Amino acid sequence: TQRVLTGITTTGTPHLGNYVGAIRPAILASRAPGVESFFFMANYHALIKCDDPERVARSTLEIAATFLASGLDTNRVVFYRQSDIPEIPELTWLLTCVTAKGQMNRAHAYKAAADANVAAGEDIDANISMGLYSYPILMAADILMFNAHRVPVGKDQVQHIEMARDVAQRFNHLYGQGRELFVLPQAEVEEDVATLPGLDGRKMSKSYDNTVPLFEGGAKGLKDAVARIVTDSRLPGESKDPESTSLVTIHDAFATPAQREAFRADLKGGLGWGDAKQRTVELIESHIGPLRGTYADLIAHPERVEEVLQEGARKARATAKPLLAELRHAVGLRPMV
Ligand code: TYM
Repeated sequence: TQRVLTGITTTGTPHLGNYVGAIRPAILASRAPGVESFFFMANYHALIKCDDPERVARSTLEIAATFLASGLDTNRVVFYRQSDIPEIPELTWLLTCVTAKGQMNRAHAYKAAADANVAAGEDIDANISMGLYSYPILMAADILMFNAHRVPVGKDQVQHIEMARDVAQRFNHLYGQGRELFVLPQAEVEEDVATLPGLDGRKMSKSYDNTVPLFEGGAKGLKDAVARIVTDSRLPGESKDPESTSLVTIHDAFATPAQREAFRADLKGGLGWGDAKQRTVELIESHIGPLRGTYADLIAHPERVEEVLQEGARKARATAKPLLAELRHAVGLRPMV
């Protein structure tokens, strides 16, 4: 069997980028025969970026409710909260000890923060926590703990999965004695929507505050967000350049090839931006509207979500414990006799 695994950091409400980059492809992959899936809320990762406890807790509920409302089948998917699996931080330490510091210096998230410090004339490591610095090791532990073969993610996460491969290889080489203790994971990126742009054309991201929320705010929230997508000032009747705005990419993430072509042709033919936005809202709503009721129900009944996650944690730990025992033995953390 093939193992598919993915996670989402619990620092905010899920947005369209999370949905098309990770949630939708992951759920699709989980339905294929011969696939075993592990999806989780990355709440240890959240602490790296967010020191607001209420926000982390609320986001965990919203992301869990989003996966469930989007059709995750708990009979096919092991669905859990990262912090319910103590084997993950333990594995993080074993991996930390075989990870080169120089490799962490090259990780995008750390480098971006360090470069910004230098540009601002600050000390290179000002305000950079050890959590941010070793973020990729925790993520490698998430993946390797379950020997995942495939990891559906947006393009921004590909480097992290390559780092997980490197760590796995190094660990196998040092401790495997010819055996593969870890599977080497592979990133799976939906080429069409590798990076969904946000309202302003930059990558849609909680950190840029340019997201279109998936469920929060209801249908009106979706409409209001789409209304704020930046376009040029061409009037109805004037020909538009479909490449000039993120509206078209966002539209396309929910469209069939025929709908994509028609949208472009209509824009070139003078469709007004207002009508184009209305059409985009209706298209997205036709996909996510039917899921809103289930989402709202789950948010209103956190105890149901909690029960699902407790069950998921039991299953996840049943997989993690035997592998961790083997790893402990392999590195020499063993009883005397
Ligand atoms: P996070 O929480 O930033 O994003 C969750 C998933 O959504 C994808 N994504 C996007 N895809 C396309 N376009 C966008 N604009 C966009 N924004 C976000 C991300 O690529 C990701 O797939 N470190 C991870 C969480 C994580 C994880 C893991 C993922 C922790 N452990 C193990 C996979 C496997 C993160 O912060 O994603």
